[in-house]
Amino acid sequence: MRKHIVAGNWKMHKNNQETIALLEEIIEKKEANTTEIVVAPTFVNLLTAVENTKGKGITVAAQNMHQAEGGAFTGEISASMLTSIDVKTVILGHSERRAYFHETDALLANKVDTALKHNMRVIFCFGEELKDRQIDNHFKVIEYQLRDALFHLEKSDWSNIVLAYEPVWAIGTGETASPAQAQEMHKFIRTLIDKVYGHEVADNVSILYGGSVKPDNAKEIFSNPDVDGGLIGGAALKAEDFLAIVNAF
Ligand code: PGA
Repeated sequence: MRKHIVAGNWKMHKNNQETIALLEEIIEKKEANTTEIVVAPTFVNLLTAVENTKGKGITVAAQNMHQAEGGAFTGEISASMLTSIDVKTVILGHSERRAYFHETDALLANKVDTALKHNMRVIFCFGEELKDRQIDNHFKVIEYQLRDALFHLEKSDWSNIVLAYEPVWAIGTGETASPAQAQEMHKFIRTLIDKVYGHEVADNVSILYGGSVKPDNAKEIFSNPDVDGGLIGGAALKAEDFLAIVNAF
């Protein structure tokens, strides 16, 4: 049975002290729940986050990672640097990485390979832009993003893949896909995975929805059979909102 996951992508927010404070509040207020809680603070605060969440049932993830094993890549972070501090989950392909840092599906395929080689779990983000949806091209865009970045993987690799469908037009805009739109796309994605990898992989892969998920819309979005959780931006920065979303299952 696939897992329910709610992941907070903190983006470039929260300094070291704020990271500690937010984690403390999440730990203090969180209720026993079968949903996996993931937090992704910025690189400089990952070690602090790992130390402050030890044994507390919270997974710490990185927001990005370089594809090379190491070398002359000023300002970049490798997979082994992350695993050496016990960070074993990484978000790859976020639309902000694609838009502002020119990450392509081909590059992301490399990053995914490197992460899997290091036994990391990947939360792979993808999603169409508004212009794609307006011309009814959104299913094609999603299919190509998945094909180009992930469909070279072996069946067995999929136990370390979590998908995060994030329509770009819904990220940070206050606009969300309607629950019906989310279900329609999640179902399309699962059917596609089924065609390429078969039932077992399709049934077991968690597909998260991201894009302006808030406490007041989470329940409705999560009530869809093919939505297995959320990737949360803005609302992950306040413990109460984030936990309300976690508890929405
Ligand atoms: P948002 O961000 O919840 O602020 O829309 C989601 C994301 O970027 O993952």
